[in-house]
Amino acid sequence: MVHADASNFAAGVTKEEAYQQVLDQAEGLFYEQRNWVCNLSNAAALLWHAYKSLPSPSNQVNWAGFYTLDPLSPPPPPTTTAPVNGKRPGPQQLILGPFQGKVACQIIAFGRGVCGAAALTKTTQLVPDVEGFPGHIACDGDSRSEIVVPIVVDDRLVAIIDVDCTVVNGFDGVDRVWLERLAELVGKGCDWPAPAFVSST
Ligand code: SME
Repeated sequence: MVHADASNFAAGVTKEEAYQQVLDQAEGLFYEQRNWVCNLSNAAALLWHAYKSLPSPSNQVNWAGFYTLDPLSPPPPPTTTAPVNGKRPGPQQLILGPFQGKVACQIIAFGRGVCGAAALTKTTQLVPDVEGFPGHIACDGDSRSEIVVPIVVDDRLVAIIDVDCTVVNGFDGVDRVWLERLAELVGKGCDWPAPAFVSST
């Protein structure tokens, strides 16, 4: 049975142990449950409580959650695409998903900021100091470092994991490895909305 104790982490737990618990609990919670809102909500809660159980810098995480591919996004515009009603289809975009932390930007275009870079390139962005990342979107001026991991299913970007921290160098290779494992689990464990945009061709 689902129980809040799943998000209790033992005192003195290591970062690897905390992430292992996140993955184990997420796997259990996703059993016979494939709704993406439901599963991303529980995954965000697990991540948040994991970080809060760890020493600095992890306990300085101030935002942990997801952006998903906005189903109203047009597909990437091929250079040959003819204008539709006088307009070329715009770029794909992310929309805010389940998270823990303060309110955040609702829409992020592919290619914009750290999240948009991860979405466009389908590669993890580990940013030790957000002031050194051109185009970083400062939803919260307190954020100083960030990691964004793409969630890719069948070569299609469906969502990203985004975690912010109030200190520089808040994340390292351990975060990267485990968040990439979580991204794989989440990608396989949810039914993702189909794009709503229908090409006129
Ligand atoms: N800083 C992100 C925007 C999202 S918030 O951090 C929640 C970015 O540059 O994409």
